[in-house]
Amino acid sequence: MSEQIDPQLAVIVLAAGQGTRMRSSLPKVLHEIGGLPLVGHVLRAATALRPARVVAVVRHERDRVAGAITELAPEVVIVDQDEIAGTGRAVQQALSALEGFTGDVLVLSGDVPLLETAALSALIRTHRSRAASVTLLSAVVPDPHGYGRVLRDAGGDVERVVEQKDADDHEQQVGEINAGVYVFGAGSLVGHLAAVGTDNAQGEMYLTDVVALARRAGERVAAEQASDAAAALGVNDRVQLAAAARTLNDRIVRSWQLAGATIVDPQTTWIDAAAVLAEDVTVLPNTQILRATTIARGATIGPDTTLTDCEVGEDAVVRRADATLAVIGARAHVGPFAYLRAGTYLGADGKIGTYVETKNSRIGDGSKVPHLSYVGDTEIGVNVNLGAGAITANYDDIHKHRTVIGDEVHAGSHNVFVAPVRIGDGAKTGAGAVIRKDVPPGALALSVAPQRNVEGWVEKNRPGTGAAAAAQRARAAQEAIDGTQRQDG
Ligand code: UD1
Ligand code: CA
Repeated sequence: MSEQIDPQLAVIVLAAGQGTRMRSSLPKVLHEIGGLPLVGHVLRAATALRPARVVAVVRHERDRVAGAITELAPEVVIVDQDEIAGTGRAVQQALSALEGFTGDVLVLSGDVPLLETAALSALIRTHRSRAASVTLLSAVVPDPHGYGRVLRDAGGDVERVVEQKDADDHEQQVGEINAGVYVFGAGSLVGHLAAVGTDNAQGEMYLTDVVALARRAGERVAAEQASDAAAALGVNDRVQLAAAARTLNDRIVRSWQLAGATIVDPQTTWIDAAAVLAEDVTVLPNTQILRATTIARGATIGPDTTLTDCEVGEDAVVRRADATLAVIGARAHVGPFAYLRAGTYLGADGKIGTYVETKNSRIGDGSKVPHLSYVGDTEIGVNVNLGAGAITANYDDIHKHRTVIGDEVHAGSHNVFVAPVRIGDGAKTGAGAVIRKDVPPGALALSVAPQRNVEGWVEKNRPGTGAAAAAQRARAAQEAIDGTQRQDG
């Protein structure tokens, strides 16, 4: 991002809460939507504002949360909240890392993941243009239950915020909620937090109490209603988690549609925030495009396909497949029913076909593994064809070994390549071969003994069975034909 740092802006991200309502051993802010933890979305929107400082407050599962935040945004300063609970206390402690800062403090909740940078800059603009000391983001929602409500006076000015648990029947009727996102003047915030107590239903220091305190001090309190109310919603339980994931996915799918991808069924297509689709990509129903997957122009993905951290080349076709950390070349075909595990590389015009599993293998340009095969720890050159049922036996119970197959090799059906083994360029193998020794270039490798027929074996060893009876009938019929031919001759 080319924009300049805003020296008058600091951001505090609240991430210390336990998230009891999630009923989870995973801290709430680390639950994921769109392939990124909730707090990751918040950090992304925040850092794009180019603030002078970003502080995150942690407490519950402190190391885990702090570790995740540092990995997502290394520049963020981590502050620990003490045993005093509440969003007010969290902000108060964060301010200790902002000593001397006199600008605007944007407070974001780690569990409100859908607000985009544009909505946050609009809030900051409102705060600055109105010279307010507090500007809060509100939203009018159909079901305000659980949220703090924004209470306004007769003139329409914000008076205070009341939490769900402290609200009387009348206040609970209010449909305008507090999004948990605010801009404060730093000085005023420090002063008012000192006056916030814990005399409320939850016995916590509420950040929201600053609103009433600022107003009582005669300062200007502004509120901006979110234009997209769904983006202002928080995640407190798993129902809301799924709703947020859906909202985010709708947004991502729509943006790729507008960028030129055909998404046949948006309802059953899930695309993570980090994935990238080129123009003229087609995505068929029931498809998940996850993590940092990239899909090049003209490729067709799906139906029923999951790609995680994959790279798909131009005009490739990937049908009913599951692939992770795989590279699929231009014009290559994958599936139906293929399983590409980590480290699979399929060259241009190649094929990984039906009921084929691959792992840690390089399959060269124009090479095909069309049916019923396992290819692991293998190097395959160009224009190779493996027959149906090829198996690379890469594991000897202790170590994994590599199979190396040269260019232009044609392997017969039902081959086992017992690694470590090398097949030279242009070599061929017979059907059913078990290849235990290297095959020189251009050789034909046969490992199956010549076929031997033991005449009459079934009638002799399995008398009385259906097989014996059938064999007897066939022999009698043949003998009758032979007898007639003798007479005729
Ligand atoms: C809060 C607001 C409520 C608003 C809602 C919007 C308060 C008192 N209430 O309620 O008005 O409608 O968000 O989503 O602020 N946290 C800490 N330390 C704590 C407690 C919480 O860092 O001691 C963090 C949490 O990790 C979370 C955020 O603050 O990211 C909000 O906390 P939560 O307990 O979810 O507040 P709500 O009840 O949702
Ligand atoms: Ca919340």
